[in-house]
Amino acid sequence: MLGEFVYSNPTRLYFGKNALDGLAKELNGYGKNILLTYGGGSIKKSGLYDKIVAILKSSGKNIIELPGVMANPTSEKLAEGAKLARENNVDLILAVGGGSVCDYSKAVSVSAHYDGDAWDHYFLKMEEPSCEIIPVGCVLTMVGTGSEMNGGSVITNHSQKLKIGHVFGDNVYPKFSILNPEYTFTVPQYQMVAGFFDIMSHIMEQYFSGDDDNTSDYLAEGLMKSLVSSSRVAVKNPHDYEARSNIMWTATWALNTLIAKGKSTDWEVHMIGQSVGAYTDATHGMTLAAVSLAYYRHIMKDGLKKFARFAVNVWGVNPDGRNDTELAEAGLKALEAWMKEIGVVMSLKELGVTPEMYDGIADGTFLLEGGYRKLTRDEVIEILKESM
Ligand code: NZQ
Ligand code: ZN
Repeated sequence: MLGEFVYSNPTRLYFGKNALDGLAKELNGYGKNILLTYGGGSIKKSGLYDKIVAILKSSGKNIIELPGVMANPTSEKLAEGAKLARENNVDLILAVGGGSVCDYSKAVSVSAHYDGDAWDHYFLKMEEPSCEIIPVGCVLTMVGTGSEMNGGSVITNHSQKLKIGHVFGDNVYPKFSILNPEYTFTVPQYQMVAGFFDIMSHIMEQYFSGDDDNTSDYLAEGLMKSLVSSSRVAVKNPHDYEARSNIMWTATWALNTLIAKGKSTDWEVHMIGQSVGAYTDATHGMTLAAVSLAYYRHIMKDGLKKFARFAVNVWGVNPDGRNDTELAEAGLKALEAWMKEIGVVMSLKELGVTPEMYDGIADGTFLLEGGYRKLTRDEVIEILKESM
């Protein structure tokens, strides 16, 4: 491994069937005013909302509710939450939901005490917070993003047709996250498999880069193998605790910065996927699934050795009698077969993309340098066409 880095992760995790027992303990460390953020109602249906409210009340907290955080949270909703948090002198933001609620809560945490346009400051200009940051805690109900243990926050601005992620530092990570795999049992199949592909994509974005022998790549291979194995169980039986718990843990490690250490990373699939999201508001993991195969086939020859290694070490392709190109192609075929098996979206058309959107999506796609090839705008358009 040739890179240099600093590693720390400040999020305390509570994992397992009794993880929620950790909440009361954590709440002792914060003041009275708790902003309870959640989505469109799944936590009320599942009964989790009642449990959380009971714990907050028995801990003597004053609850300020902020429901209706949508999938792919918007800049308008961010402004609403920041105002509410400021006006109520919030001491802790408790996010109960998936990546959207968790991302949103982080964005509110840095915006409540910022005097200005938070979208412009944090997402367009990528400035770092210099104001007071409200601590965030998370109770995770949907697996995929890794938001429970990272500084990522992705916000969509529909009027500007931009979806942008800001990866904040340690001071914005959730202070604690509660991970009970059983909470994910009620996630609809479409969302569940989108989450599985999101995890796979996070690992591939960090794996397909660099030429040195790097411990991070071996960790990535182990995580991918675990995901593939457990996802095959979970699609058939979503209530299989063991499979769902493996996947929950894999998702966290896929994007809590560990496997990026000591190497460069790609993230171009996410850049294209986010721009597709800005135009379609499609489910995040599905936007990645729709463009990944075309993207990887496009850059395969630039990182041939790693693609060949992916085939052998992740998918068990037999290397005997095959050259690197044949192996690399076989690896991407195996990826494609797994995607079909778990049932993700295989084309942009299915997400509502039309040829009229190509230019706008390409304009909204940041072109990054960390992977095997820096794309041009024209290449983004080619990949979009190939993904239809
Ligand atoms: O709103 P509710 O009613 O809760 O329904 C949600 C939502 O409709 C539902 N859901 C969640 N948990 C459920 C459930 N339904 C039934 N039972 C449960 N237990 O699932 C739907 C999707 O939820 P969402 O939070 O949007 O999904 P996800 O966790 O995939 O988050 C997506 C967002 O995270 C961003 C994405 O761009 C997107 O905006 N990302 C964040 C990252 C990060 N922080 O590092 C990285 C990722 O690459 C990603 O970009
Ligand atoms: Zn993602």
